[in-house]
Amino acid sequence: MDAKTNTERGYDDFQEHLARLETAGLVQRIDQEVNKDTELHPLVRWQYRGGVPEGDHKAFVFTNVVDAKGRKFDMPVVVGALAGSREIYRLGLRVEADQVGDIWRRAMSNPVEPVQVESAMCQEVVLEGDDLIGDGNGLDALPVPISTPGFDSAPYLTAGNFVTKDPETGVQNMGTYRGGLKAPNRLVVRMATRAGGAGGYPHWLKYQTRGEKMPCAVILGCPPVVAYTGPQKVPSDVDELGVAGGLAGEPIRVVKCRTVDLLVPADSEIIIEGLIDTDFLEPEAPFGESHGHIALEDFNMIFDVTAITRKRNAMFASIISQVTPSESSSIKRDAYEQMFLVHLQNTLGIKGVRNVVMHEPLSNIRRVIFLVMEPGVQRTEIWRALYGAATLRADCGKYVMALNEDIDPNNGDAVFWSLAYRANPTEDIVILPNRDGGHGPKGGSQSSDGTMLVDATLKQPTAPLALPKKEFMENAKALWERLGLAPLNPEVPWHGYSLGDWTDEWDQLAENAVKGDYLENGKRSAQMRRSGIKPNTPVRDVIK
Ligand SMILES: Cc1cc2nc3c(=O)[nH]c(=O)nc-3n(C[C@H](O)[C@H](O)[C@H](O)COP(=O)(O)O)c2cc1C
Repeated sequence: MDAKTNTERGYDDFQEHLARLETAGLVQRIDQEVNKDTELHPLVRWQYRGGVPEGDHKAFVFTNVVDAKGRKFDMPVVVGALAGSREIYRLGLRVEADQVGDIWRRAMSNPVEPVQVESAMCQEVVLEGDDLIGDGNGLDALPVPISTPGFDSAPYLTAGNFVTKDPETGVQNMGTYRGGLKAPNRLVVRMATRAGGAGGYPHWLKYQTRGEKMPCAVILGCPPVVAYTGPQKVPSDVDELGVAGGLAGEPIRVVKCRTVDLLVPADSEIIIEGLIDTDFLEPEAPFGESHGHIALEDFNMIFDVTAITRKRNAMFASIISQVTPSESSSIKRDAYEQMFLVHLQNTLGIKGVRNVVMHEPLSNIRRVIFLVMEPGVQRTEIWRALYGAATLRADCGKYVMALNEDIDPNNGDAVFWSLAYRANPTEDIVILPNRDGGHGPKGGSQSSDGTMLVDATLKQPTAPLALPKKEFMENAKALWERLGLAPLNPEVPWHGYSLGDWTDEWDQLAENAVKGDYLENGKRSAQMRRSGIKPNTPVRDVIK
């Protein structure tokens, strides 16, 4: 493929995206020597565990990578370039922040079939046969980092998009799965077999029934629009590359692999081709998982490498996963939230759902889901939404909670506030049995789980939030700043507002007070005196 063809593309490849991030000041380049087995991921981890605000997150480019034995590598390692932050993710989609949801909706409902090209940059270098055998060759020549040093059993591919094909329908599937290195020409891949797990697994079962090995290709470092569809849930008869085309607004250019009958994005950095055994399995892991615990050793699929093809100047992409928030949860979150919103609004036809927010820090996005409801939604519709969100996917929605719009679901304090004052545990919580154990650490009674649905919306008009009205807080903020006091970082709620139980008369009393006319209010209440009433009796119960 020549450079001219490349410029005809309307979507970025991985390196063009990185250049875009660099221009936006979102790349942290590390030219100092860094050990991929002990230092690289722990360094990036500090971005997530060191109190760095999400808005300051960067993609890390390591240009001088060595391994634990002091070996050097001929390509940089890039971590966090796909979804290191929401800004990085948005730039990967090449849309404004407020268009992210819309573009996912468009792509999921209007996939664009890929277009096949004859030659591709990802095949500039082709390694086959003896090139894949022996130390320092094949997979061993790639700078694959160890994600969780001290626990992981091997360097792992974490940004690998595994392409397989349904042998009956011919429809390809692409999923982001982890792949542990075992030999220069062998890795072991873990495709989740649970309900709602990996789309490649049903393919594997079909090849097994036929007594054949399963052809597979791993895409490493690809156009961000492709990478973003790898972790998404799309119907089994839809190829993720089509959804990627929907995101790009044009077909993804694909090329045929050299040794297996599969199509992969032509503008990828590296492709690993191979055959997955359908007879034998091999121990895989321990490896740090995105549910935030170490996945213990399981039998998983053996991938025998038949070829590695790559760009001459390839970069090695790695995703930081494990404890959330991480790149692994951020890369899923927007599309997952849209999938739930579309289901509730369009499939179930529930009108009052304004937003779906999946809780990310530590819990990962699957288990705790918030539904932001419009005011005045019928209670039965709120419950339909709660049941709908809990049942869409087997592994999502262990806790589903409906909230009002003034509660920020990303603020745990606000959520507890809502539970404290807007939900009655005896009436507003339903607990259901028979949930799948889902994506979590194995062991104990985890094979079966439950579901908790909570309606934490206001059920009746309630007295206003007891903070000064907005205008007073705004004036006071200006005064605060004129006085040169410590800089403010306003936290919602920072002003009072009505929650439905408030009258014009009480408004008048408050207005009198701020005008200095509280004595008028005193005259009014003197005229309203009553005897024979218990203290604390509401005035409106006595004077209608
Ligand atoms: C960084 C990362 C690693 C993942 N690792 C795995 C994995 O090892 N196995 C798996 O089944 N799913 C894994 N997932 C989740 C899948 O990508 C997700 O379920 C996706 O829908 C799979 O696509 P599929 O449904 O077409 O198989 C991972 C996701 C991310 C972002």
